[in-house]
Amino acid sequence: MTYAAITGWGACLPPSVLSNDDLSTFLDTTDEWITTRTGMKERRISHVSATEMATVAARRALACAGLDPSEVELIVYGSCSNDEQVPNSASGVQAALGATRAAAMDLNTACTSFLYGLSAATGMVRSGAVKSAVIIGVELISPYMDWDNRNVSVLFGDGCAAVVIQATDQPEGVLGEQLGCIAGARHTLRVRGIGGAYANHGVLFGDTQWDFDGQEIFKRAVHAMIQASASVLAKCGVRPEEVDLVVPHQANLRIIEAVVTRTGIPMEKVMLTVQRYGNMSAATVPVALTEAVAEGRVRPGSLILMPAFGAGLTYCAHLVRWGARVTPLSVSEATLPPSPTTALERVMAIRAGKVGAMARSGAGLQPARLFSAQEGIVGR
Ligand code: UT7
Repeated sequence: MTYAAITGWGACLPPSVLSNDDLSTFLDTTDEWITTRTGMKERRISHVSATEMATVAARRALACAGLDPSEVELIVYGSCSNDEQVPNSASGVQAALGATRAAAMDLNTACTSFLYGLSAATGMVRSGAVKSAVIIGVELISPYMDWDNRNVSVLFGDGCAAVVIQATDQPEGVLGEQLGCIAGARHTLRVRGIGGAYANHGVLFGDTQWDFDGQEIFKRAVHAMIQASASVLAKCGVRPEEVDLVVPHQANLRIIEAVVTRTGIPMEKVMLTVQRYGNMSAATVPVALTEAVAEGRVRPGSLILMPAFGAGLTYCAHLVRWGARVTPLSVSEATLPPSPTTALERVMAIRAGKVGAMARSGAGLQPARLFSAQEGIVGR
């Protein structure tokens, strides 16, 4: 029987940090409110495109696996942020990596996109369609955030991470998953204007508005992730106490606590990054997984539970068996160029660009450009 082991992992976090105090300079909010309601202290704001973050993370994951880009057979770009809608973003990563043999597909289930992508790619490896794949979870939310809406703008950040999976006869990688979608609640999280209004290499064409019913999402997410976690553990014949580590979607510390404790797992077994990065949507789980390995919290043979939810409302829980290796085979030198601005300066520019874009579209003028020419990734 063929399995799909995780053999490489790598993250790419933009360097600019936006603190709760930064947010309170232009929003009616406080560090105390954000910390107590969400667990978040800071998040990252990117100065480069999503494709650039994805390329750096993929290079790091490939180096970790000791795999040359030319050997990769599939790239999955899990995200709801695209630098352009057509052509797809995975093909942009393929071109930047020089992974000329790889099939390339985008997958959007919002915050669960990385995990749905992991399922899709694992299925393809297990069927024999491909022998290796890079699965990317990336999100560039800051350009289409409605920064003046405190209900949502304090919650999200930008970031990226990727894993490499490879065919093996060892029972490793995804052992089982439970996937689902509560489409009756799809109205609770909707971004109006994205895609049609913001796309194409950082060019902002208009305004974006978020419909966001936080309390309803909260309740549905907790219930769905508890059900999905119980279901995948039962399917795999694993008791909660046998789980070594939980790497959950990080939308809110209170959601994580509710899901994990009601699943029967102590909080000491949970990897938390919500305080440092906020909710990076599809990037959240792979970033937390990558940091858990780096911190020594993933051991050879660890059983890892990964529950998540996102707009749709999609939800899932994956059970993963880690392999024997917890250290990279090699380290990539790929890195982002330094940011020319602070995170707060960038957010202010985005806010000003939105107001300007709305006025310009009324006057039939050109859209605003938020990213300068491609700044270029350093190293391979
Ligand atoms: O990954 C998918 C996306 N993530 C989510 O969907 C997250 C799910 N939901 C949540 O995490 C929580 O519901 C929130 C963090 C969004 C909100 O927490 P809450 O405890 O449910 O707060 P609330 O919505 O009940 O708001 C309580 C109060 C309200 O004021 P009033 O009506 O009681 O006077 C809000 O207007 O807090 C107010 N408020 C804020 N105050 C300061 C809302 N946002 C803020 C803010 N700063 N940023």
